[in-house]
Amino acid sequence: MIDNFGRDINYLRVSVTQRCNLRCVYCGTEIPDAKEISANDISKIVSAFAKCGITKVRLTGGEPLVRKDIVDITKKISNIDGIKKIAITTNGVLLSDYAKPLQDAGISVVNISLDSLNRERYKKITGFDLLPTVLESIDVAEKVGMKIRVNTVLIKGENEDEAEDILNLAKDRKIDVRFIELMPFSDTGSNEKLIVTGDELIKKFDFLEKIDTGNSNFEKSVARYYKAEGFKGRIGFINPISDKFCDGCNRIRLLSDGKIRPCLGYDSSVDIMPFIDDEEKLTQEIEKIILSKPNGHSFNCEYGNFHAMNKIGG
Ligand code: 5AD
Ligand code: SF4
Repeated sequence: MIDNFGRDINYLRVSVTQRCNLRCVYCGTEIPDAKEISANDISKIVSAFAKCGITKVRLTGGEPLVRKDIVDITKKISNIDGIKKIAITTNGVLLSDYAKPLQDAGISVVNISLDSLNRERYKKITGFDLLPTVLESIDVAEKVGMKIRVNTVLIKGENEDEAEDILNLAKDRKIDVRFIELMPFSDTGSNEKLIVTGDELIKKFDFLEKIDTGNSNFEKSVARYYKAEGFKGRIGFINPISDKFCDGCNRIRLLSDGKIRPCLGYDSSVDIMPFIDDEEKLTQEIEKIILSKPNGHSFNCEYGNFHAMNKIGG
């Protein structure tokens, strides 16, 4: 449906848990006993969203694969009328075992977080020595034929020098590589001096050519894509800090405790669980929430005052 600022809200991000099996330096700390709504309740809420015009769903966390019922959640969402596309964002640690079952359950696109190709550094950034595991997951996802996007957050003085190596993942393999600007979700994230902007990278990699993604690409509103001669995959830039993309924002978020958050940049969220057993009321409330979506976020003026990624699901 169209919101009060003319944006077609058709993309729902569903955070299924706040838990995670990594501890990335730029991500906030998790609340260990946070409530998680059931697969059935997620399905009911997504059905109501589908009635309001949502056609694409992305499963996020925390780390969505730490939920034992993630395949069941995916199957339930696949069966909802009107949902045409389901994607997942994962750190890749548990993906080798899940790639095939998730694909069979209806997931076509997987975003994998990867900030370093150096084992020591991967461990330093994420807290765990799991780079080989994640690299294997990427191979498995590629083999089963999922569309793969690697998401990378560069940090000045930490992994900035790896930009080119990571970018080169898109050279020989049909993998999109996307650089995300560091956002203020933790002590590290809140240090503006550590941000590597998309513009800096585009200037440095002057062989990149802009791609006009048109209106068909559902992530068009947030990622700006480039191609390079001889590359099989694309290079994307997600610039929440230097280039606010609120005008084209087509998304809304369901959090793992059953609250709905219209915009990443505002604290406000609405608990939808009181309406969970009344389908009509649930749909009406969701419509109201979509109409309450603000016209823009305020990262720049409130820098450092944000929720951790594991609470809001990216
Ligand atoms: N800044 C930028 N990106 C972040 N992510 C998590 N926290 C931050 C942050 N502070 C990214 C992860 C992952 C996606 C879910 O969000 O690296 O790719
Ligand atoms: Fe986990 Fe993602 Fe946060 Fe890293 S950024 S700790 S992978 S939720």
